[in-house]
Amino acid sequence: MAYETIIVEIEDYVATIRLNRPDAMNALNDQLFKELADALGAAQANEKVRCIVLTGSEKFFAAGADIKMMSDLSFVDVFAGDLFTQDTAAILRVRKPIIAAVAGYALGGGCELAMMCDFIIAGDNAKFGQPEINLGVVAGIGGTQRLTRFVGKSKAMDMNLTGRFMDAEEAERAGLVSRVVPVKKLMEEALAAAAKISEKSMITVMAVKEAVNRSYETTLAEGLLFERRVFNAMFATDDQKEGMSAFLEKREPQFRDK
Ligand code: HXC
Repeated sequence: MAYETIIVEIEDYVATIRLNRPDAMNALNDQLFKELADALGAAQANEKVRCIVLTGSEKFFAAGADIKMMSDLSFVDVFAGDLFTQDTAAILRVRKPIIAAVAGYALGGGCELAMMCDFIIAGDNAKFGQPEINLGVVAGIGGTQRLTRFVGKSKAMDMNLTGRFMDAEEAERAGLVSRVVPVKKLMEEALAAAAKISEKSMITVMAVKEAVNRSYETTLAEGLLFERRVFNAMFATDDQKEGMSAFLEKREPQFRDK
């Protein structure tokens, strides 16, 4: 599939996917979501990819779903057409880790897309928001649900009810992002994190992603049991033997994803 709204580069086992609709501040439309879902599916299938970085430009990650595209839609259009649902489900199916590298605006669907990734590294100019209320709608792909789990009810209500933006520092304090770095260093930092992850056993990496994500879907007791069983299962892998032997032999592990 030839892409028009995203740019994909693969280097050193990391796929960088850059949102690229500069005239509309990377507003998310059907085409972009389809291309993104396709690129992520391809990255998942590609053995030369061990981690994915999703980013935008230095001024905007994405300013939300495309308001021009949505303005004339009816209830039936969005309900029967299930706006964006299939493609966001495809993003969530990716088992390799996805780091969102966010600079500038991440608003509405842009903030929600960043939250669908596994963690967010923010440039110090990042601005997060759920301003849908100003358009007479509510968030539609996670802004009332994922944001609430990340930052708690009070801040999520504040963001969704007032439509105000949260800067990078507040986002880090609130637990929405894992780290804040100078915007000029954002890609360097995100790619370094991706490189670190790429050195690990892919089996363990995918297990970690499943286990952490499970914590959002279940009770603590069930989640702990799931974690324990995943931990147990790791002892069936060669990479567990290799990782522990390497530690004891004071050398770097050579993981083989087995
Ligand atoms: C379409 C958009 C857009 C959007 C910006 N643009 N955001 N186009 N959809 N979400 C376009 C503008 O129309 C303009 O195009 C160009 O990008 C530059 O934007 P400006 O407003 O001129 O820039 P600025 O004054 O710097 O303001 C930046 C901004 C503002 C604060 C980010 O653009 C803004 O508030 N955007 C909307 C943010 C928003 O409400 N997002 C939520 C969308 S709803 P022209 O052609 O005029 O130059 C949503 C729902 C998701 O995301 C749920 C789906 C199921």
